[in-house]
Amino acid sequence: MKIGILGTGRMGVRLAAMYGSAGHDVVLGSRDTERARDITAKLAHPRLNAGGYREALDAPVVLPAIFIRDGLLDQLEAMREQLAGKILIDITNPFNHDYSDFITPWTTSGAEQIAERLPQTRVVGAFKNVWWEVFDAPDFDGTASDVYVVSDDEEARQQVIRLGEGTPFRYLDAGRLANARTVERMTLLSGELGSRYGFFPRMNYKLLGEPWSPGQADHTIGPLIA
Ligand SMILES: NC(=O)c1ccc[n+]([C@@H]2O[C@H](COP(=O)([O-])OP(=O)(O)OC[C@H]3O[C@@H](n4cnc5c(N)ncnc54)[C@H](OP(=O)(O)O)[C@@H]3O)[C@@H](O)[C@H]2O)c1
Repeated sequence: MKIGILGTGRMGVRLAAMYGSAGHDVVLGSRDTERARDITAKLAHPRLNAGGYREALDAPVVLPAIFIRDGLLDQLEAMREQLAGKILIDITNPFNHDYSDFITPWTTSGAEQIAERLPQTRVVGAFKNVWWEVFDAPDFDGTASDVYVVSDDEEARQQVIRLGEGTPFRYLDAGRLANARTVERMTLLSGELGSRYGFFPRMNYKLLGEPWSPGQADHTIGPLIA
């Protein structure tokens, strides 16, 4: 699968390297193509190519690695036509500039804001809780941490989970896009906890659980929403 990444910051570069190592062809796109070229030359990965945003947008799967506070929503709206029908992997957490809170209200999420701007794009939220340094050493005492994948498009959600095969994370189907409200705010909490307990930024979530036994009558908390 070909993946186009927009932005060469902390997340964009690491996700490009991760997907390239998992066998995908990646175009790392930057506003400054020279910058993307320098980075891909240093990474020297055979599946990694540099380009501008335009080249990255040619891929069937596009991952913008840009902050909402830096104008991502307007940038994406200008790309509406190129993104129509494609899968967009949304990694946004709508942090303000000092990371003390989100710039969006509790009644929405970065993922939903993007989906509203791009009604013809298949928006899938993922990687929201993975702080950038975790990509450099993804295991915690030999344990892989979680990526919660959300979307209202079931097929796109499963495709993004499959895209993660061969990467060092466990991918959980986290259901509908509105669950991004919870998943994104989990990042706000992990940032606060990590700072308080000295983990920041090497931390992520992992859901602990055991399979229910067949004899148990009620093993759900209610109708699960796909
Ligand atoms: N950092 C984390 O640990 C983390 C974890 C989970 C999710 N996220 C999410 O991932 C996204 C990127 O985070 P990041 O930490 O990688 O950000 P970053 O290091 O600040 O990089 C963002 C990139 O966005 C591009 N960009 C496009 N328009 C921009 C503008 N007007 N101002 C500044 N940069 C602009 C730039 O790349 P070019 O110049 O190459 O175009 C820049 O390098 C955010 O939505 C964030 O919420 C971050």
